[in-house]
Amino acid sequence: MKTNRRGFLKAAGLAGAGLVTGCTSTTRAGELQEGKSAFQLDHIRKEAQNQYKQTFNMSGYCAPKLDVVRIGFLGVGSRGSAAVERISRIDGISIVAISDVQPEKAELAKARIKSPGHPAVLYSENDEAWMEVCRRDDIDLIYIASHWAMHAPMALYAMEHGKHVAVEIPVATTVEDCWKLVETSERTKKHCVILENCCYDFFELLTLNMARQGFFGDIVHCEGAYIHDILESFFKKENRYNNWRLKENAERNGNLYPTHGLGPVCQLLNVNRGNKMMYMTSMASADFMLKKATEQNAKSDPEFAQFLDNPFRGNMNTSSIMTNSGSTIMLQHDVSTPRPYSRIHLVSGTKAFAQKYPLPGKIAIGHEGFVGEEEYAKLEKQYTPAIVAKIGDLAKQIGGHGGMDFMMDWRLIDCLRNGLPMDMDVYDAASWSVIGPLSEWSVANRSAAIDIPDFTCGSWKTNIPHDIELHTGNTTGVLSK
Ligand SMILES: NC(=O)c1ccc[n+]([C@@H]2O[C@H](COP(=O)([O-])OP(=O)(O)OC[C@H]3O[C@@H](n4cnc5c(N)ncnc54)[C@H](O)[C@@H]3O)[C@@H](O)[C@H]2O)c1
Repeated sequence: MKTNRRGFLKAAGLAGAGLVTGCTSTTRAGELQEGKSAFQLDHIRKEAQNQYKQTFNMSGYCAPKLDVVRIGFLGVGSRGSAAVERISRIDGISIVAISDVQPEKAELAKARIKSPGHPAVLYSENDEAWMEVCRRDDIDLIYIASHWAMHAPMALYAMEHGKHVAVEIPVATTVEDCWKLVETSERTKKHCVILENCCYDFFELLTLNMARQGFFGDIVHCEGAYIHDILESFFKKENRYNNWRLKENAERNGNLYPTHGLGPVCQLLNVNRGNKMMYMTSMASADFMLKKATEQNAKSDPEFAQFLDNPFRGNMNTSSIMTNSGSTIMLQHDVSTPRPYSRIHLVSGTKAFAQKYPLPGKIAIGHEGFVGEEEYAKLEKQYTPAIVAKIGDLAKQIGGHGGMDFMMDWRLIDCLRNGLPMDMDVYDAASWSVIGPLSEWSVANRSAAIDIPDFTCGSWKTNIPHDIELHTGNTTGVLSK
């Protein structure tokens, strides 16, 4: 079963509303390849050029405190059900509803709840049952972990119905949807948080604090990536709903999953909070892997033959981004060649250098090489931010990619309970996610440069960086393992 997105937008009153840009077309890149002009995928360039006026600044916004955060989960496959389990270990939450179009997934997610007393009503009747969850008046937060195509429709509908949203990555796959999320969050004053867990990984937080304390001097250049060989998993039908990830990789050619690498370096560079991304270029290798693997798998399972006419994503995508401060970012994406996992996470400054991958993370203060173990331990002690000192051990115990997932969830709930601004607000969500469609455009146009929209509409100049020292909040307990 597959939600018809056009139908949904109509039902939700969002289609053609010209919410932000006046665009009336549905603009999932895969659907629109027919509308080519002198520029390939020209709708992307046009959407990126649209101007918008901020109506309310969500950066630094403090929503009313919530003593208990009442949550509805939408999409509880492998990622969403793990989130249900993690969140159920946090005090001051109530899991009110769980929706998944596959009833067994909803049941399994409910069974993973680790604390007593959650009503957790299941919604699985059809592919629009999630809308009923959003319409309930006893829910504060909608936590979205469905496949990419449903992130923006679910988030928009939930905010329109008065809910804060926390959305898995990327929050949207089109420029138009990124703007709609910004406009809707500002108008409804509901938070739209991107669930970029890598921003809460230990080396990333260490280097963020080092950057803030001036250890690197001026930051000249950063690198990030999502390099993860998950090719085989594309053909394990039980792994993902309706082969959604193979479909995305077959239809679109760009950096489809930019935020793991980009989120942490944007925080380092104060993007949207003192700095902004200005323009980018993107280049893709040819596809040496995906089509061949699809052909191979189609021999034993004809269901995969439906993808064979697609262009397929070039295996390695490399993008370069210029920021207002003059610092540059190199971002890569490869999910299909056999090589070790890497998010790179490289910081090169006028005084020092750090690089996470290949593990372990390393720090250098000159060309002689990386500091030794003893010096590293000293730096780690000196620069570990309070959020890690206070929650890190517990997060490691509870887990989720080594603890970062839990730290992210805990911080989200603690901020909502204390009425604090979000660490990763709608502007971060939109600007980190928009790299996907912009990279598609650049790849399709011989790596031509494209402007990156300023979703803050200029308020990046005065927005302030988020708190990693837990100056306020930190009142939320945890049910440890
Ligand atoms: N941050 C991370 O480290 C990380 C890791 C893995 C996945 N993810 C993200 O999590 C999301 C889900 O990935 P996954 O691997 O769990 O995929 P999945 O296919 O296992 O889960 C998606 C779920 O959404 C459900 N769904 C689809 N349409 C629905 C509808 N109309 N109503 C309700 N439910 C619906 C599916 O039935 C499925 O259970 C993706 O956005 C992915 O990028 C993030």
